[in-house]
Amino acid sequence: MCGIFGYINYLVEKDRKFILDTLVNGLSRLEYRGYDSAGLAVDGDKKNEVFAFKEVGKVAKLKELIASENPDMTKVFDSHAGIAHTRWATHGPPSRKNCHPHRSDEKWEFAVVHNGIITNYKELKTLLEGKGFKFETETDTEAIAKLAKYIYDEHPKIEFTTLVKAVIKELQGAFGLLLKSVHFPHEVVAARKGSPLVIGVKTAKKMKVDFVDVEYAEEGLALPAEKASQNVALLKRGNALLAPPDKSLLHRSQSRAFLSDEGSPQPTEFFLSSDPSAIVEHTKKVLYLEDDDIAHIHEGQLNIHRMSKDDGTSNVRAIQTLEIELQEIMKGQFDHFMQKEIFEQPESVVNAMRGRLNVEEKTITLGGLKQYISTIRRCRRIIFIACGTSYHSCMAVRGVFEELTEIPISVELASDFLDRQAPVFRDDTCIFVSQSGETADSLMALRHCLERGALTVGIVNVVGSSISMMTHCGVHINAGPEIGVASTKAYTSQFVCMVMFALLLSEDRASKRARREAIMEGLGKVSEQFREILKLDKSIKELCMKFKGEKSVLLLGRGAQHATALEGALKIKEISYLHCEAVMSGELKHGVLALVDENLPIVMILTRDDIFAKSLNAYQQVIARKGRPIVICNKDDEEFPGSKTDKIEVPHTVDALQGLLNVIPLQLMAYWLAVAEGLNVDFPRNLAKSVTVE
Ligand code: F6R
Repeated sequence: MCGIFGYINYLVEKDRKFILDTLVNGLSRLEYRGYDSAGLAVDGDKKNEVFAFKEVGKVAKLKELIASENPDMTKVFDSHAGIAHTRWATHGPPSRKNCHPHRSDEKWEFAVVHNGIITNYKELKTLLEGKGFKFETETDTEAIAKLAKYIYDEHPKIEFTTLVKAVIKELQGAFGLLLKSVHFPHEVVAARKGSPLVIGVKTAKKMKVDFVDVEYAEEGLALPAEKASQNVALLKRGNALLAPPDKSLLHRSQSRAFLSDEGSPQPTEFFLSSDPSAIVEHTKKVLYLEDDDIAHIHEGQLNIHRMSKDDGTSNVRAIQTLEIELQEIMKGQFDHFMQKEIFEQPESVVNAMRGRLNVEEKTITLGGLKQYISTIRRCRRIIFIACGTSYHSCMAVRGVFEELTEIPISVELASDFLDRQAPVFRDDTCIFVSQSGETADSLMALRHCLERGALTVGIVNVVGSSISMMTHCGVHINAGPEIGVASTKAYTSQFVCMVMFALLLSEDRASKRARREAIMEGLGKVSEQFREILKLDKSIKELCMKFKGEKSVLLLGRGAQHATALEGALKIKEISYLHCEAVMSGELKHGVLALVDENLPIVMILTRDDIFAKSLNAYQQVIARKGRPIVICNKDDEEFPGSKTDKIEVPHTVDALQGLLNVIPLQLMAYWLAVAEGLNVDFPRNLAKSVTVE
């Protein structure tokens, strides 16, 4: 949902080519977050000049545009700040005009890139139009740039950070922001509230994080935190921002600084990004910003300020070492990230279990839950909350969770949960499952549960993400970077982590021992079984030819395989644009059967489990209506003779884990259907990887 990237060099000579290439390359790493348009702003040839390049479409188009405009690539800057953005449109259709960076005015006095949504932008726009500002785009972001100029014009001696604080006080909604200004050359201010931002640092200096100053400006320059409409009224009366700032306040703010060597300034480069995948090739030293942090980068120094004093936030921002490698975010031998990620699953599930599952000793260790396990065992109910694929993984493990823990379990779509303002109690455990850890609906639901005193658990892939930081405890699924917009390896790793969670919770139940051991043994074999299924790639590709020219597919599953069907149908829809409906096969006879004839393409999940006989009823109902389903079944199942049935045979495993295996052929099917249509698998239309808007 939009990616932002910034590059700042200090005392490191870089020519414009390097700066532009670095920004464009950063954007291409973030492209999965949005690819409607891309743009960047860098310093021009003259002082106080800004060059901005914006193009509709993918980052490659921006690159072409820059080449065609032919700026002087040899010009050298030893100090320079550039900002860039790749967009997933929310306000205003994709167009050059609506593309970021947005500017305050024709001279680009303030340039902004933004990820998130400013919900009160209309009020701000009305206010600023009243002050003579002319808006040129349909975006919410433009109001930020113009507000910055408005405040600057009123207070020309203001410091950059103080100015941004004043701007932010007026913003409602969610944002990750980078601002650059001709008034503050070579400086960048970054701010986050609800949208992720990480800063990479490359320097010869020894780094440490220090508090340098804990005084805080009680009075900001901004308006009191009242409703936007009141603010508008106040501004119209001109009694707030128009007052000259108290100079003494401008230099006092709660801040933390690092780069602690006191000696002479050192060459330093900073990389700001929506996520670490765009940073790792430059440096592995990163610092994650938290909500309400404002980072100021100037002369090789990074200072982090808070929006308010004593807000209970930790005063430590550790410099962390990234553990991902560049090759992990490159496609390697594969044509698409999605394909690479499907094929990575034999390793990614092992990474989810490494150091956690001991099959010989039949033990599970989940360090991130250790302190909370006994509380969770005593909770009144467990609520899983997630969106999309992550929701399906929760659905897939609901049965095994209920069975092993005997705690009432519900699975909620985050958006619906919030719409209902569902009741949550102090003795509930709310489990938030999210690949990105940044999905707005899930984050809002998390806040809802935190406010009501529930224990919250995160099952998250991205380390340092909002959900992983805001939950009381959790498990990282360790799937590695997932770049393809369609989630694949995150699903299977979430599944595995949640099964391990259920196994851990039931450790104290003697009656479950045999069952637990069978599941643990099954987990030990999953990776090898994945490899076996992936060998079916070619035959699945051929089978997909049957769908050529079709408009709709029915995908049937029962019990835990209903979740598999839901996930398979989502994958098929989102990347091949073929309508695919998942139906609980017990429901077939209650209406959907009317669709079935000899023409409708049908895929049925018919692997063996306790309810196989019932699933078979649905199969018979389909056959009786001349349907010719493709069957996903266990190897050598005599029920489905090869001569009569198109089938995809998967290995058998314990029923609680069968869905893990069954989903792989469906992922491959979705992939090949999209490839056959010549579609861009990694960047399906209208979608983005990390959905940071409600
Ligand atoms: C589908 C897909 C989405 C996400 C959903 C939640 O392939 O990727 O449905 O699963 O947007 O995202 P996370 O898991 O990041 O919260």
